[in-house]
Formats: sequence, structure tokens, C-alpha cells
Amino acid sequence: MNVLITGGAGYIGSHVVLELSKTNHNIIVYDNLQKGHRGAVLAGKLIVGDLNDTDKLEHVCREYDIQGVMHFAADSLVGESMKDPAKYYKNNVGNAINLLEVMRKNGIKYMVFSSTAAVYGEPDRIPITEETLTNPTNVYGRTKLVIEEMLKDYDRAYGMKFITLRYFNASGADPSGQIGEDHSPETHLIPLVLYTALGKRESISIFGTDYPTRDGTCIRDYIHVSDLAQAHILALEALLAGSESKIYNLGNGEGYSVREVIDMVKKVTGRDFKVNESERRPGDPAILVASSAKARKELGWKPQYGDLQKIIETAWNWHKNNPDGFK
Ligand code: UFG
Repeated sequence: MNVLITGGAGYIGSHVVLELSKTNHNIIVYDNLQKGHRGAVLAGKLIVGDLNDTDKLEHVCREYDIQGVMHFAADSLVGESMKDPAKYYKNNVGNAINLLEVMRKNGIKYMVFSSTAAVYGEPDRIPITEETLTNPTNVYGRTKLVIEEMLKDYDRAYGMKFITLRYFNASGADPSGQIGEDHSPETHLIPLVLYTALGKRESISIFGTDYPTRDGTCIRDYIHVSDLAQAHILALEALLAGSESKIYNLGNGEGYSVREVIDMVKKVTGRDFKVNESERRPGDPAILVASSAKARKELGWKPQYGDLQKIIETAWNWHKNNPDGFK
């Protein structure tokens, strides 16, 4: 199948491209390279374009006879989304409408959609299942939820089929060491702690030590990016095999605290560094841990890099060899 991968030069998209290149699908990456990196696209054809350029998008879909889409392209910074909601509604929701319309007009029926645990907000029970109430506490999560609802309506009215994947904390790097995480600005815990280990930052701050958790710091479910990538391939295969539209959580089902992550980085890197305790970051839920039982059962998904040590080892392998990322 000819698959269009929007945002395929980004962190998760590029890892999916690499995994997908091991199958017999044809890959066409569509990315405006605002956040993504040319050097991260190791397979397929890269077309530099914006999702708001409907003519170009439509042209690409026709020229390459696109039959399925994996949609990653989006803005994803929680803090920024609160300060500039317009950007998020335009780039996430508006561009999703453009893409869906191009798909509808060109008879493209299948999409794997990149969603987030941020749709749950502060959950009322742990682990979070797909039935847990969605109640996003930030604009970013809200834009993803709006798109999820749009997909359901497009299925009902036009028979398009979607698998929505709600990621927990994507982390790690491809074990080959060829690609990894390179955000600018970087806000995620694991790369920031690794930059501190590398001496690129003076210290790491723990955002809040008074949460109702085992050590007072936030607990998250870190899931290896290559395991996420596998789930996308299984989701695409499920759609091609006639699956109904579905939503799946993707996490390990095990939570680690901020302190545990920092300690693991010290162990893996063998380096010591300064750790500060600071105020809570607004909008952070105390605990986010997934139940991915549905994805395991229905898609046959089996994460390979379940434990935190393996995740951090692959991330460290990337960061120590590429301290300046893709530059
Ligand atoms: N943290 C620190 N210090 C830092 C950076 C982060 O203590 O310098 C803490 C955060 O407060 C949080 C944890 O580390 O408790 C993880 O933070 P990240 O920013 O790495 O990840 P988040 O859980 O905030 O968010 C991630 C994605 C979002 C997505 C969310 C869903 O970045 O896009 O997971 O769970 F919505």
C-alpha cells in the first residue's frame, strides 16, 4: 500500500517510517520541517509541504496514489497550547480538516491517528483504559480530542476507518542509534536529564515533590518509541484486514516517578549531576499509567523495550553520539 506519513520527519513519525520500511508498504513522508528533521527520514520519499497547502497535499495524494494515511503532524507543547490556543486549533484541528477532506475527495479510506494520553486530563482511576472519561486539562489535549470526534463522524457519514492511538510518554531512540529525539525547545524529562548528564545543562529541576505518590514526584508511563512504531504497523494491518474504527492506549502499564527516572539516568550513564527541587508545573497530573490490554489483545501488540533501563539506554546511546541532535 502507498502510505502518506504526515509529520514523518518528527520524533515518533521518523521511528514509524523506519519500522514501516521493513514491511512492503511504500512510504511518502509529508512534513513542513518546522520541527522535523530531514536527516531523521531514513526511508521513503520526503516531500516538504504544509498541511494547510491543500492543493499540494491533494496533488501528492493523487501523484503517489495514496491509499492510507498515518497522521503525526501536530503541535504538541502543553504550555504553549495554553498561551496560544489559536495556533493549536489552526495547526492541529484546522489541518486535520484539510487532510480529511483531501482523503474524502480522493477515496482514501484508512487513517492511523496520533493521539495522546492528554485527552484524559486528571483521570479518576489508574490504570487508564480507553473507557476512562476524557476530560483534557489543556488545549493540546482538547485539540486531539476534537479530532478524534471528527474521525468518528467521518466514519459514520462517509465510512472512513480510523485507528486512534493514544500515546503515553513516548521515549527512547531506535536501538540502531541512527535516529532519536531532537526537539527544540526540549521540554521532556528524559532528554533533559540526559542533556544534564552530558553537561549541556547545569542541573535538572524536579517539578513538584509534594504529589500524592510514593516519593512525592509525578509518575508517568514511559513507552519506547520503537514499540509505539510497531503498534502503528499493526494498526495499519488491522485496518487493511477490515477492522472497525477503534481507539487504543499505548503504554507499558508501569509507572516511574521523576526521581526514579533521574536515578536510572545516573545508573545508565555512570554520571552524577545536580538535581533541584522546584515548584509544580501547572497542569501536570500526579499519575498517568495506561492499561494497554486492548491493544495487546486485539492488535497483538507486544512491547519489546518495557523496562525503563532499556528505554534510557537507547536514548543515551543516541544523545551521547549526537549531542547536537540532527544538526
Ligand atoms: N519534569 C520535571 N522536570 C523537567 C521536565 C519534566 O520534573 O525538567 C516532569 C514533569 O513535571 C512530568 C514528568 O517529568 O511530571 C514528565 O514530563 P514530560 O514533559 O516529559 O511529559 P508529560 O507527561 O508532561 O507529557 C507527555 C507529552 C505530552 C502528552 C503527555 C501525555 O509531552 O505531549 O505526555 O501523557 F500529552
